Amino acid sequence: MKLDKTKLGEHFGKVGTGNQTHLGIMGTNRDIAVGEIFMVYSSRDNNERIFFFRVLGLENYLRQVENLSKVAGTLMVEGDSYLSGIERNMLLSVEGRLLGYAEQRGGKWVFNSPRRLPDHLADVYRPISGKSDPLVRDMLASQTGGEIYCGDLQVGESTLQVPVNMDAKYLPMHVGIFGATGAGKSNLMMVLIKSFIDANLKASRGNDDVTKLSAFCIDPHDEFASGVDDYGIQDIVENMDEQTRLTVFGDFYYLTTHLAATSREIRRYARELRILWSEIKPRDLYSIMDFTNQMGAFIDGQYSNSGEDWIADILGMDEPPGGTTKATFRAVKRRLRFVERSPVFAKSGSSVLADIFEAMETGKILVVNTSLMGDMEQFLLTTVVTRTLSDLRRALKSSGNLGDFEKQGEKRLPASFFSKVKKKAKSFYGVSGTTNESPVMDPKNLPVIQVTVEEAPSILNPELMRGRSVFKDISRQGRKFNIGLLVISQQVSVLDNVILSQMNTEINLRLGNEREIASCIENASVNIAGFENEFRVMSRGEAILTASYREMPIPVKIPLFDDIYRRDKGNYKSNSGNDPEEYII
Ligand SMILES: Nc1ncnc2c1ncn2[C@@H]1O[C@H](COP(=O)(O)OP(=O)(O)O)[C@@H](O)[C@H]1O
Ligand SMILES: [Mg+2]
Repeated sequence: MKLDKTKLGEHFGKVGTGNQTHLGIMGTNRDIAVGEIFMVYSSRDNNERIFFFRVLGLENYLRQVENLSKVAGTLMVEGDSYLSGIERNMLLSVEGRLLGYAEQRGGKWVFNSPRRLPDHLADVYRPISGKSDPLVRDMLASQTGGEIYCGDLQVGESTLQVPVNMDAKYLPMHVGIFGATGAGKSNLMMVLIKSFIDANLKASRGNDDVTKLSAFCIDPHDEFASGVDDYGIQDIVENMDEQTRLTVFGDFYYLTTHLAATSREIRRYARELRILWSEIKPRDLYSIMDFTNQMGAFIDGQYSNSGEDWIADILGMDEPPGGTTKATFRAVKRRLRFVERSPVFAKSGSSVLADIFEAMETGKILVVNTSLMGDMEQFLLTTVVTRTLSDLRRALKSSGNLGDFEKQGEKRLPASFFSKVKKKAKSFYGVSGTTNESPVMDPKNLPVIQVTVEEAPSILNPELMRGRSVFKDISRQGRKFNIGLLVISQQVSVLDNVILSQMNTEINLRLGNEREIASCIENASVNIAGFENEFRVMSRGEAILTASYREMPIPVKIPLFDDIYRRDKGNYKSNSGNDPEEYII
């Protein structure tokens, strides 16, 4: 089948030198930017292939002239007449990387890593927005598909209408979002939350095969609900009709420490953040701060004596029990002080943890305003929630039927919490009814749960990850339980290797310095060696998406949340049946 080459875009030049990773192209004297993507048409041995090439460097070139400086000098002295007719000899020498190639197999485009070379003097095309988009979309389908829209394919300073998505089934293998302050991390989070909502909306409108997505989104600046600029998640919620809202969001989506300080509109969908001391396990604390062995021994001893009352009991003691030194005792009490003082963690009363569990097992999105919490409170909250969700799914995974699950749950979770959620859990996890004999579901068929970890370096650092960190288990085993971490960080270099090596998708935004650029390149799941210059010139909202399940590093322009909200808000109104992710071209 012969491809209509004009659909690739405008003819730009010809391949000169190169190997299977780098190419030198000689092109027309156009206003090219670093980062642009060209397509090279090759038909070596009659195999029609389109190679994708990314511009990494540019140089002016004057045909038949060895020394351009000499010409510039003569021009200065002789004036413009010296150059008459020289324009046609002005070319652009472009150097860059081969990203891979697309070829048709059985009528479908497949994409391959760059392990071939285009033809001698192959023709090079520059994609044109509005003309090349459909073909590029087809050729890159395997590289850009998925349920979770992130942005559009970026070519230099502009974009093509080629939506770039992540695949939901890989979320439990963890996602990293890296970028300096102001690079666009919060806006990206809102775009992703919208994509989760859109995917769930689609599922609720009758596409049963669509994976439901749950997300526990820590929001340290309280931006997501009302937005970074004009619109936020609250606008989506308000735009939905009652029925859609209940299906997609349930009766709340916003969690906060201070309900009274929340605007009236948001308060209608808010719950107060409250976790009971009894719902905290020693491991949760070990995951967020350093304890000596002696302190650990004291806490573990107390936990086996008092069970879920361990915190209340320790805080109630005036003297250390036998075998524990005063110094250890005091140090533990000091470390527990923030729990004692926190409005989030309470000795008694009602807790929201069971509601969080229910939301996460039914494909809901939660926005968690932690702006009024201390760092330690925020980390402990993330840890308790993550560990509780994973304990429940771990109990499920090691059970044959609901009777087993109940036994496993009692063993793994604080008694009063488990007794509260047992009935609901059985209804989520049973395959046929809720009797003890009912077989249980595989976590793979339950909603994917994404837990965001904000200010990741504080808890995902090598010191804490060396111990009994909850996050170490999740990063290694989250996949089994269908629970993934979404790690947001300004720095890559300080994160622990366990988490970095388990991460299979990275959205790399503009970075702060050379060290972070180097770490980012080293950590990426697709080889992006040589992209240093790219990172140096990136603007806000521009990113390079790398995923281990893909061959090509994908430059993506993340849209402003406000723009896609305006574009799609009609889809939330009623059962309009429109696909919110579909592009109207
Ligand atoms: N994709 C984008 N396109 C255009 N502007 C953006 C984009 N992302 C963020 N911005 C702008 O940059 C500013 C900072 O973005 P933000 O998401 O808060 O960055 P971060 O969370 O990384 O500090 C915001 O005011 C926003 O308007
Ligand atoms: Mg931010």
